[in-house]
Amino acid sequence: MREHDVIIVGGGLAGCRAALEIIRTNPSFDVALVAKTHPIRSHSVAAQGGMAATLQNVDPEDSWKSHAFDTVKGSDYLADQDAVEILTKEAPNVVVDLEHMGVLFSRLQDGKIAQRAFGGHSHSRTCYAADKTGHAILHELVNNLRREGVQIYDEWYVMQLILEDAQAKGLVMYHLLDGEIAVVRAKAVMFATGGYGRVFNTTSNDFASTGDGLAMSAAAGVPLEDMEFVQFHPTGLYPAGVLISEAVRGEGAYLINSAGDRFMANYAPKQMELAPRDITSRAITLEIRAGGGVHPDGTAGGPCVFLDLRHLGRDHIMSRIPFCWEEAHRLAGVDAIHEPIPVRPTAHYSMGGIPVNTDGQVRSGSQGLIEGFFAAGESACVSVHGANRLGSNSLLECVVYGKKVGGAIAHYLQNHKLPEIDEQHYQQCAQQQAQSLLDQSGTMRINQLRQAFQDCMSEYCSVFRTDATMREGLEKLQQLKQQYQHIYLDDKDTCWNTELIEALELRNLIIVAEVILTSALSRPETRGAHSREDYPQRDDANFLKHTLAYYSPAGIDIAEMPVVIDQFEPKERKY
Ligand code: FUM
Repeated sequence: MREHDVIIVGGGLAGCRAALEIIRTNPSFDVALVAKTHPIRSHSVAAQGGMAATLQNVDPEDSWKSHAFDTVKGSDYLADQDAVEILTKEAPNVVVDLEHMGVLFSRLQDGKIAQRAFGGHSHSRTCYAADKTGHAILHELVNNLRREGVQIYDEWYVMQLILEDAQAKGLVMYHLLDGEIAVVRAKAVMFATGGYGRVFNTTSNDFASTGDGLAMSAAAGVPLEDMEFVQFHPTGLYPAGVLISEAVRGEGAYLINSAGDRFMANYAPKQMELAPRDITSRAITLEIRAGGGVHPDGTAGGPCVFLDLRHLGRDHIMSRIPFCWEEAHRLAGVDAIHEPIPVRPTAHYSMGGIPVNTDGQVRSGSQGLIEGFFAAGESACVSVHGANRLGSNSLLECVVYGKKVGGAIAHYLQNHKLPEIDEQHYQQCAQQQAQSLLDQSGTMRINQLRQAFQDCMSEYCSVFRTDATMREGLEKLQQLKQQYQHIYLDDKDTCWNTELIEALELRNLIIVAEVILTSALSRPETRGAHSREDYPQRDDANFLKHTLAYYSPAGIDIAEMPVVIDQFEPKERKY
């Protein structure tokens, strides 16, 4: 059986930063990282706009406390404030640390790291590398990992988390290259598996964002926290859904409706286009509903609004946001120097996830912890984002908590032994699971079912929700779940069988969707990104608490967990 001191699942920013921290703490640790793509193709690479940190390079008045307050207010007061304090205090250190590793941040005239405005932040504090920040950071982290000798299993798909007696013991994983199924044991397992944007039919996320880590954890009996909070980024390129970075608005672009008006004046008169994402996505959706949308050719009544950069000028656009210009040009045929870009909200980020404490130890409930199991990044919920994340706080979370959790794992490894695992049992189960999918003699193609599923979630659980729509969605989801038994695979081979992986991913997406809908139904209030049209107010008296959803094939049980409020008392949010 393969074995390592620690195995980390996920090759994005959080996983790579944790791996680096562990091996730097003790180079004799045997650290492995497994990813279903090559690590530099992890979704972190697509992060554009930047990473918040109070370096005070642009705004000397900025402070960690102000960053913390903005984050908590942005979260609609659901963030755990102890976790936010760590995030915002550590931010400047981790940026400098990344710079020392070789990350090329954009610069000010005086040579200091440049910082731009971002939604919901009261100061210009977002550090960036043009609009390719994730790319710049991830490439350096992976270079560093290779240099330090972390073993990377790339293009291995993790099928199962081995969790017995409240202890994580290892993984079962499938090698895309040749179909080998391997059981791996480890003293510690860490999930940094990213989000689940592919639950929806329009998303900024890449094809690999299928919520695998969340579904595997849920299937192993781990609760998922605050899954009702799905972030819709206001400016997905229409119709592709890919991200047009908030950096574009940070650099001064306008959102305009069919009349050419900057309609954000009606929704967030002070912050305008730089209001937090929940507010801006609602505003765009309402504008479109009211007939103020546009068609890409500029005629009124269409399904999107315009993002207008024309006043910024060619030089500014090409030096600060060249990738967004390129995306609009390549995917929508729009030259943003001369024409506005058609945009509308797109599923972007999961505020919820695997519940963890500030050392990344996975919670078994509101009280206990799971031995040997850690998580960080988007797949985790340490709850620094609460009900709505501020842009440029997610790269920050990955790096701050990746590093911190890596340190905690290094400490944990000192006093723990490799667990015992029945290798044969897990190998046979996985083999059977793969074989029964290959043998299934259904009539439905995977992409047919996936499309129907994504359409269902986008129709019934999007920017706005009601009890009635979500119940209908859940009912449709149950029918779609039955149809999973009727999918068939053309490819029966073991070499590079991506169809088999798509089938496994779809199973995971469906589990995640069921948890999202059930959690959302259990919260009859509007808070952050969870906009209930039937309950339009925030209800602190009854719902200032986290949701914990326990999944089982028989159904989902909902429990609750208190929110840590130690600095900022909840107030009305105004922007
Ligand atoms: O708009 C963006 O560049 C996205 C940033 C983020 O999600 O933090």
